[in-house]
Amino acid sequence: MKTKVLVIGADGRADALARQASLGIHFSHLYALPGNPGTKRWATTISGSITDFVAIEKECLKHGITTIVVGPEDPLVKGISEYFAASQSSAHIKIVGPSAKNAKIEGSKAHAKQFMDRHGIPTAPFQIFKEDQLELAKLYIEQLTVFPTVIKADGLAAGKGVLICHTPEEALAAVEGMLSGAKFGDAGKTIVVEEFLPGKESSFIVITDGTGAWKLLPLARDYKRAGVGDTGLNTGGMGVISTPSLVTESFKQIVTERVIEPTIQGFIADGTPYKGFLYIQLMEVEGQPFVVEYNCRLGDPETEGILPLIKSDFSELLAACANGTLKYTNLEFHEECSAVIAIVSGGYPGDFEKDKKIMINKYAIGRIGCNIFFAGAKEEHGELVTSGGRVLYLQANAPTLKEALNRCYEAAKHVFFDNMYFRTDIGAEVLALEAIGQEA
Ligand code: AMP
Ligand code: GLY
Repeated sequence: MKTKVLVIGADGRADALARQASLGIHFSHLYALPGNPGTKRWATTISGSITDFVAIEKECLKHGITTIVVGPEDPLVKGISEYFAASQSSAHIKIVGPSAKNAKIEGSKAHAKQFMDRHGIPTAPFQIFKEDQLELAKLYIEQLTVFPTVIKADGLAAGKGVLICHTPEEALAAVEGMLSGAKFGDAGKTIVVEEFLPGKESSFIVITDGTGAWKLLPLARDYKRAGVGDTGLNTGGMGVISTPSLVTESFKQIVTERVIEPTIQGFIADGTPYKGFLYIQLMEVEGQPFVVEYNCRLGDPETEGILPLIKSDFSELLAACANGTLKYTNLEFHEECSAVIAIVSGGYPGDFEKDKKIMINKYAIGRIGCNIFFAGAKEEHGELVTSGGRVLYLQANAPTLKEALNRCYEAAKHVFFDNMYFRTDIGAEVLALEAIGQEA
């Protein structure tokens, strides 16, 4: 039976989710809340707040929506799954996304470390300190002999809560700033101090349905820094590549056995089976994986890069996750590479001006073979104007990474707004390694 689905989110990830779901046959109608000028192409817009569950429930009942796919972490951490499960009139509505209990794996770094410790999942050695343990934390830092060390705010700190400290002085200042609440408010009042892992990062994203079944999505590398050569401030993500050379098949196998399986089974053993997307950030050190963090959702802009590589019916995959039938679902990918570049407002991730008119030749971009996913953009008086830092993403699939990147950069010539910029070196280090026949 065909069902109606609601995608929650206003970013490029929501746009890519809605597009990919619209290509399949499972859903009779798509809605997006609050959506953006991109999601409008595939889904009917419903306005509202992504954490106003009462209003979301009313809209679902009004439109006969029976599946909700949650993009960002906020509604998950705030308990959208629990809300619908407990509602008498809406318990039939299925959520693709974990419970708040499980979303804590992203919402609290201390909780995530304890989870890994309990289930034997490899991660950097660590210590947790609470607000009233400042003196103990300082003593701990003073006896450390190896630097850098990593200090993490426990709670969500808009992606800024991790400090890599190169000297004892830096580390002491970080500990004091966080535990006192001065640096990240309540999010920093518990901290994790952990060993620095020198290695290569990769993102493994799985979809799992609460029965123990899971499927791995294509691997991606994101580029967090604002500037060329990984310089400048951290951003939400300036680009993404997905190419088979990111990791070896044997590393994938080790990650499956040592990280993915124990993680999925860990949730089951804790009595809280996980349903939804789970994003595992790994550091590879001498061929061994260490979990850097978990996110309770798809990455952004990883989603924009990897969903277009899915060959199977994505709407069936979402439905199978919602219904707990993932084990019977086939997931195939195009044997291609993918690239994404973010086109952002001048000044981002610091202060930037909004309401700049966006000029975009979507026909030319289409001819190049690129997708456009919108994020910080809105329509005003029939015109497209900027409304956020990451304004839109250009994405291409191609037989080679080089070709995928070329298409994105060619497409970027057909986008203009005052003060826009983008990184010109997404994937460059991988292309250089591929050129000499080495893995990335
Ligand atoms: P997180 O928010 O935990 O993903 O951390 C943000 C970034 O900090 C990661 O993507 C890594 O690049 C870096 N990082 C976090 N923990 C470590 C660690 N133990 N060793 C080295 N780098 C780390
Ligand atoms: N691009 C990183 C994230 O979504 O967390």
